Amino acid sequence: MTTTNRSKKPEGEPVGIALLGFGTVGAEVFRLVQENADAFAHRIGGPVEIRGVAVHNKNKLRPGVPEELLTDYAKALVLRDDIDLVVEVIGGIDFPRELVLAALNAGKSVVTANKALVAAHADELAEAADRADVDLYFEAAVAAAIPVVGMLRRSLAGDKIQRISGIVNGTTNFILDAMESTGASYEDALAEATRLGYAEADPTADVEGHDAASKAAILASLGFYTRLTFDDVYCEGISKITADDITAANQAGYSIKLLAICERLVDEETGAESVNARVHPTLVPKEHPLASVSQSYNAIFVEAEAAGSLMFYGNGAGGNPTASAVLGDVIGAARNIVHGGRAPGENTYANLPIAEFGEVETRYHVDMEVEDRTGVLSAISGVFARHGVSLRTVRQEDGDATARLIVVTHAAKEAVLEDIVAALGELDEVKAVHSVIRLGV
Ligand code: HSE
Repeated sequence: MTTTNRSKKPEGEPVGIALLGFGTVGAEVFRLVQENADAFAHRIGGPVEIRGVAVHNKNKLRPGVPEELLTDYAKALVLRDDIDLVVEVIGGIDFPRELVLAALNAGKSVVTANKALVAAHADELAEAADRADVDLYFEAAVAAAIPVVGMLRRSLAGDKIQRISGIVNGTTNFILDAMESTGASYEDALAEATRLGYAEADPTADVEGHDAASKAAILASLGFYTRLTFDDVYCEGISKITADDITAANQAGYSIKLLAICERLVDEETGAESVNARVHPTLVPKEHPLASVSQSYNAIFVEAEAAGSLMFYGNGAGGNPTASAVLGDVIGAARNIVHGGRAPGENTYANLPIAEFGEVETRYHVDMEVEDRTGVLSAISGVFARHGVSLRTVRQEDGDATARLIVVTHAAKEAVLEDIVAALGELDEVKAVHSVIRLGV
């Protein structure tokens, strides 16, 4: 066996892979590595071999997987001398964190699809990868097959990202799209998403925006070279969106989408920059490309200083699309093991301050039930005016005893809008503030 100067492995010796997890994604990764062994060897410059598969229950039948590869002792597999690369597709946070850290500390490169782990512990994981001089890849953690992590890490590394607006959760996009296209209630659309297998038995992480918030933290960290974790992301889900909200949005020329928005803010007076990441239902003008993203598809709209606007669209979940992203990372990491070197890691050199959500400026669509009599409009517009917020449009629909008033504002800070909603709630003329939905992109 010979070893080149740059190589980390004797020529021709396979890169040994430990696969942690054998669910929908793990099974696809396993199948594709077996079926494409020759092609992958050419693309890498040497063979790869899955040498162990860690599962919860090794007695469960797994057709096509040799029994001797299965183990229920994941930590021992990770630490084995013949393992060079660990692929983590288990999910959760604490157990995979322990395994991924053990792998990195033992000098093994890691590929993970685990957005919750990366969004919560990226600093710790990146430091361990740097210390060991190995790769830590996580393309599949955001929008599966859509190559958005690589795009931010490599393709746009010479540009300056201003804003990223993404539909990064397929379940919620399916629900909102079903509500818009069929007039269904939120509850009925969620039931349909569950029946079709999009929504989990416990849909909380999707519908309350937590899954999208993890992805927003990852995108913002990469785009702004500043560490943001899950806890830094303001998060509001779709469970309060009603069929009425969808109809009102449609009538005004908008679709409602759950957007993950990562934004660079610039102080007008000082020029000082900060960043913010947030997830909330957003009114998207029908003519914007994000409005036409239907069913469970994902899309990420990136605005960069030199590149201008870019949009990436495709399958953001599922066994095959996620396995595609995992395998792209496997090939990248294996190539570095064979030829030497490391992929561009995470870099948080800019370390920009994270702006409070209250400082973010947005336009708002405020839907109220009001008394239908003289002076009501002036009382309501007075509340906005006293807070320095100008109104863009006002629409009234007559009801029986009351009227529905829909106000769209010009840009205002979140903190100011919160005060306005509180003040509206105290007016006798306002019977209820039904919804406040932000306008975006
Ligand atoms: N549950 C996610 C979605 C996929 O619905 O898009 C995994 O992040």
